[in-house]
Amino acid sequence: MKLSDFGERIAGDAGILRLMDDLGRALSGGKPTAMFGGGNPAHIPAVTHTYERQLRAIATDPVQLQAMLGNYDTPQGNDRFIRAIVQLLNDQFDWGITPDHVAVTPGSQSGFFMLFNLLAGTRHGIKRRIMLPIVPEYIGYADQLIEPACFMPIRPTIRKVGQHEFKYRLAAQSLSIDDSVAAIAFSRPTNPTGNAMTDEEVSRLAAMARQAGVPLIIDSAYGLPFPGVIHDAATPYYDDNTVISLSLSKIGLPSARVGIFVGPPPLMKALSSANAIVNLASPSIGQYIARELVASSDIMELATQHVQPFYAERAAHARQLFMDSLPPDLPWRFHIYEGSYFFWLWCDGAAKTATQLYDYLKKRGVIVVPGEFFFPGIDVSTWPHAQQCIRINFSRPDAELTAGARILADGVRWMYGNK
Ligand SMILES: Cc1ncc(COP(=O)(O)O)c(C=O)c1O
Repeated sequence: MKLSDFGERIAGDAGILRLMDDLGRALSGGKPTAMFGGGNPAHIPAVTHTYERQLRAIATDPVQLQAMLGNYDTPQGNDRFIRAIVQLLNDQFDWGITPDHVAVTPGSQSGFFMLFNLLAGTRHGIKRRIMLPIVPEYIGYADQLIEPACFMPIRPTIRKVGQHEFKYRLAAQSLSIDDSVAAIAFSRPTNPTGNAMTDEEVSRLAAMARQAGVPLIIDSAYGLPFPGVIHDAATPYYDDNTVISLSLSKIGLPSARVGIFVGPPPLMKALSSANAIVNLASPSIGQYIARELVASSDIMELATQHVQPFYAERAAHARQLFMDSLPPDLPWRFHIYEGSYFFWLWCDGAAKTATQLYDYLKKRGVIVVPGEFFFPGIDVSTWPHAQQCIRINFSRPDAELTAGARILADGVRWMYGNK
């Protein structure tokens, strides 16, 4: 079988494949001691019950049921769902958007595939790339581009904070934009690091993007308006040159595959056209389950009353546990936690790599994600930092966190060759 170059690339050892594989195996096979590797949102009973109520209401209404199961929606998305999203965003943030500013995709993951490939690639002989202004970035962006080498990753500066924390900052001096940049994109808060780019950093990037006439793309999968798992200091940013992506996944509906893109109408029209070609339409089920919750803004209550407190409590508990468990005399550091469902641990100056640590921990029943995959476009062998980090999903039950923290502490000691 001969695959195309692109086929070879996406069928190869992509980081996201390894992640999904490990997750699937770990959840279906022998139960690991600590499942810190997953990207699934936690199952929060109040959230599940809310969706159950919506589903039951739809199931007992033959007209809605028929429409939800038996019709394709338009490639742009379900009309009532889109109108509800527009109203919610205008009520919450006063963005002044219309339905033409919205495109719904089958999950934001496939939305990014379409959006990035609409923008990046060769145009009139010039290779145009997606600038990732702070890398590490979301693992799911890597390998998305049909034309290779179309990411322009920027290494951040690292600000060490106290004994055991750090924060990535935009390396302003490395930022310049020319014809070869097709868009600037980042997740806020960032999966995997828990970083939230500051308002000042976002404004600087927005100004650069506007000046160059390219869109600023902000992936808000964990951010505002829902689930809103981001610290208060990060103000949501939007202007007429910005694309914001939202998702129903991190508010408890990952299997429904609903991504929501908000941006300039011509670009959203192009995204809907791409959606028609690739998917015909996006799945309706999630849009039906959520649309009354969005229209009534009950989804905001779900976020503020249930999802945000859950992650705040888990994050505080897990952070304390990890800080107390890891060997105090070694120079490991966690990224300051400003949002998302993850912690990012850096073993500064360690002798071994994150992939080696991943294998060590896996043998002992602790699943994490090695950091090397979160550096799209960067040859990690040229940057020791990129081989010294792991991502930890902290939203696990107490017993798992406690057992996992102990084994992680052994792993960190082993990383530095002290055991
Ligand atoms: C930052 C970020 N963006 C986008 C996605 C894709 O989410 P979905 O396709 O489920 O909307 C994820 C999923 O983990 C993510 O973490």
